[in-house]
Amino acid sequence: MAASCRRSHGSFCLLFVLLLAATASALGAAVGSSISHVQLSAEFLLPVDSSSCPTPQEQPHGAPTGTRMPIVHQHGPCSPLAAAGKHAGKAPSHTEILAADQRRVEYIHRRVSETTGRGARRPRRTSAPVELQPGSPSPASASSYAKPSSSSPANLPASSGTALGTGNYVVTIGLGTPPARSTVVFDTGSDTTWVQCQPCVAYCYRQKEPIFNPSKSYTYANISCSSSYCDDLYTSGCSGGHCLYAVQYGDGSYTVGFYAQDTLKLGYDVIKEFRFGCGEKNRGLFGKAAGLMGLGRGKTSLPVQAYNKYNGVFAYCLPASASGTTGFLDFGPGAPAANARLTPMLTDNGPTFYYVAITGIKVGGHLLSIPESIFSGAGALVDSGTVITRLPPSAYEPLSSAFARGMEGLGYKKAPAFSILDTCYDLTGYQGSIALPAVALVFDGGACLDVDASGILYVADVSQACLAFAANEDDTDVAIVGNTQQKTYSVLYDLGKKVVGFAPGAC
Ligand SMILES: *[C@@H]1O[C@H](CO)[C@@H](O)[C@H](O)[C@H]1NC(C)=O
Repeated sequence: MAASCRRSHGSFCLLFVLLLAATASALGAAVGSSISHVQLSAEFLLPVDSSSCPTPQEQPHGAPTGTRMPIVHQHGPCSPLAAAGKHAGKAPSHTEILAADQRRVEYIHRRVSETTGRGARRPRRTSAPVELQPGSPSPASASSYAKPSSSSPANLPASSGTALGTGNYVVTIGLGTPPARSTVVFDTGSDTTWVQCQPCVAYCYRQKEPIFNPSKSYTYANISCSSSYCDDLYTSGCSGGHCLYAVQYGDGSYTVGFYAQDTLKLGYDVIKEFRFGCGEKNRGLFGKAAGLMGLGRGKTSLPVQAYNKYNGVFAYCLPASASGTTGFLDFGPGAPAANARLTPMLTDNGPTFYYVAITGIKVGGHLLSIPESIFSGAGALVDSGTVITRLPPSAYEPLSSAFARGMEGLGYKKAPAFSILDTCYDLTGYQGSIALPAVALVFDGGACLDVDASGILYVADVSQACLAFAANEDDTDVAIVGNTQQKTYSVLYDLGKKVVGFAPGAC
């Protein structure tokens, strides 16, 4: 019973469905116990436009602390980075998003197996060492640059550049004094925060906002090579007494520059002497974001740096759709999670990532028969930047067949596989609300993620809406709880109490 997230009230089932159908929000978020189906509004299947976006400065209601920041999907029509005008870049296609998602997952798998010994060993792709070019801030040579992590030379900082440009969510921060608006990708899968910096001695990619100019901030300071903060970096170097950082991502994207400190503004809150990378050599598919906010568990990450201020607590809520509703990112014990269902954060499993233990999967309210050893063998982590949840093949197969049986029972027409997704339906012509078999992930301690109706399907097209889960290559690869399944939940990370929590219906 401990691992049950929905108690069974058999005969009340239909009543619940009816009640939910009557009271569900626009997206039919099904919160509660004992339901076998959730209702998805057919509107969800249609492309969104920017007319339904909240006004840019609008803060979500009931902000409990001064840090709450609205977040939106990077490529959604409501993104501050949204393409506009004739110079607009094209938003990535669903095929591109899912291909990038797969590269991110492969990178996470490599990094997890390198740092924890878990997972299938794969040949590691070696890339040329990242160095600043001659004529850049320093005559930094490869040797002055390459100071790999003490634990392992293969220990690259986590995250995937390509995925940063596709499946991720952005938040707007203020950096420096006076604060410069910078819209950055936020990423629980990496530690070091960085932004592109002028004078971009080597090169910067195109971003939407003006590139951060350290000389215009009177609180900016370089960090010295002798500072212990310089040693916190996975990869660091030294130029003219100033600490250099480098982050190389899984797909070959990278950022290199000075490790610096300046005032960081989060919502109405201020963090002084926040350490971040001032990137003067940046290459990769980061979209038009100014950089990245690292929310991992490493020493350089924001929640760890601001530990005393926020007790190592942050939470975010990813909105159900790319328009209409706004999500949030919030720091500190006031972060909304009163009703969160908690599961232990497994901090001994490896660096950076938020490891948790999945114990089961439910479809239509029924626990699937999957040996718990399948989950414990692979391990699992929660990631803000992976789009599609990845499961061991021995867990994915029972899930997709149970879901397919449920969909067949509801009379939906099958559609061809799409990219990494193989359980797809043609929902052309449906109106009103669409019933879907409920899907839930059960975690150690009984915490449960009753996936919101908006997080069950990945809608490539109305004629191709697919179960938004995929199988890992191997049962030993770590499972990843992706951001599609986290939608509308407040996902809480508490580094002090060492728990991860899911609070339903938060945005
Ligand atoms: C930081 O270091 C760079 C490179 O040496 C230098 O150009 C810049 O003026 C320094 N900034 C400050 C505030 O010291």
